[in-house]
Amino acid sequence: MTAQEFLGKEEFTIQNQTVSESCPSNIALIKYWGKYENQIPANPSISFTLNHCKTNTTVEFFADEVFSVQTFLAGKEEVKFAEKIEKYFRNIEQYLPWILKGKYVIKTENTFPHSSGIASSASGFGAIAKCLMKLDETFSGKTSEEESLRKASFLARLGSGSACRSLYNGLVVWGESQVRGSSDLFAVQYPNDEIHNVFKNFNDWVLLIHEGQKSVSSTVGHGLMNTNPYADRRFQEARENFGPMKDILATGDMQRFIKLVEHEALTLHAMMMMSDPAFILMKTGTMEVINKIWDFRRETGLPLFFTLDAGANVHVLFPNDGSEEKIKSFIEAELLQHTQNNGVVKDVMKF
Ligand code: DP6
Repeated sequence: MTAQEFLGKEEFTIQNQTVSESCPSNIALIKYWGKYENQIPANPSISFTLNHCKTNTTVEFFADEVFSVQTFLAGKEEVKFAEKIEKYFRNIEQYLPWILKGKYVIKTENTFPHSSGIASSASGFGAIAKCLMKLDETFSGKTSEEESLRKASFLARLGSGSACRSLYNGLVVWGESQVRGSSDLFAVQYPNDEIHNVFKNFNDWVLLIHEGQKSVSSTVGHGLMNTNPYADRRFQEARENFGPMKDILATGDMQRFIKLVEHEALTLHAMMMMSDPAFILMKTGTMEVINKIWDFRRETGLPLFFTLDAGANVHVLFPNDGSEEKIKSFIEAELLQHTQNNGVVKDVMKF
C-alpha cells in the first residue's frame, strides 16, 4: 500500500460533534530508534500492547468555526500540546480534508502518572487518531472496521511513530519486515496463531526510577541517529533480529527471548551513549535493578528480565507461568527500593 491510498474523500458534511476514545500505551521489544522523512522508520519494530496504561481522550468539534485547537491534560490547559496538535492537524489535511474546517477542544487524561516517563505520546496520539476516525466516519461516511483501524494507525504514526503500534492488541509490528503484511506506513498485529501461549500472558511492571522530564526528547533522539557512525549497522541488526524473534515466538523459547529483548534495550541506550552529543539516560537505580535482575536469574533460573525506553525507568517483564508469585515477592523486596517514592505501575499485556 502507498500513502495515496489513505487520501480522504473530497465530499463531506461537517457538524458539531463530540467523540471519546481510549488507547493503551505499548512497550517495544525490538526498538524503533531512527527515522526518515514523513515518519518512515529506519528499521522495523515489534511491541507488546499494555492493558492499564492508557490515554482517554474526548474531542469536541465545532463546525465552521475558525480552525484552532485548545487542549486540556487532566483538566489543566496545555498550550504547548495544543500547538503540537495544531501542527499535526495541518500536516494530515490531505488524509482528512475536513480537518481544518472547525475548532477543537481536546480533553485528555492518562491512567498513569503524568511525570512517570511512560510514553504518553503513543497512547495520546493513538487516542486522538481514533477520535479523528470516528469524526471522519460521521462526516465522510462509514468504512470497514479493518480499514478504519488501519487508517487510525497510519494517522497515529504521523503524530508519533510508536503510536501506530498502540492501535492493536497483542504483539504488534511496525515497519517492513519478514512479518506478513507489515508496512512502514502503519502497524499490523503479529499473527496470533504464530505466538506460543507463554507470550500471551505476560506482566510488565514499570519501575519509576526517576520521575520527571526525560533529558532527551524522542525527536532529538531519533535525529541523533542521522550522524551516529553505528546507525546503519544498528538498523540492519534490528531487521535481522526479526528472524530469531519469529522463531522464538513460535517455539516459546524463553531463554532466547530474554536475551534478545535485553540486548535490544541495551543497544538502544548504547546508541545514545555513542551519539554526538552523548546521552546517558540510565540512573544509578536503573543499573542497580538490572544487576539485581541478572543475579536473581543466575540464582533461581526464573524468567525475570527487563527492557528500557528512552529514559531511566525499567520495564520489568515476566510471564504468568507459575513462577510469578516468587518473582513478584522479589520485586517488592529487592527492586522497589531503587524507585523514587516506591513508584511502580503494574501492567499486563493486552491480548
Ligand atoms: C525508544 O515514537 O516517541 O520508545 O516518532 O518522534 O514520536 P516519535 O518517537 P517515539 O519513539 C519511541 C522510541 C522508543 C522505542 C519504541 O517505542 O520503539
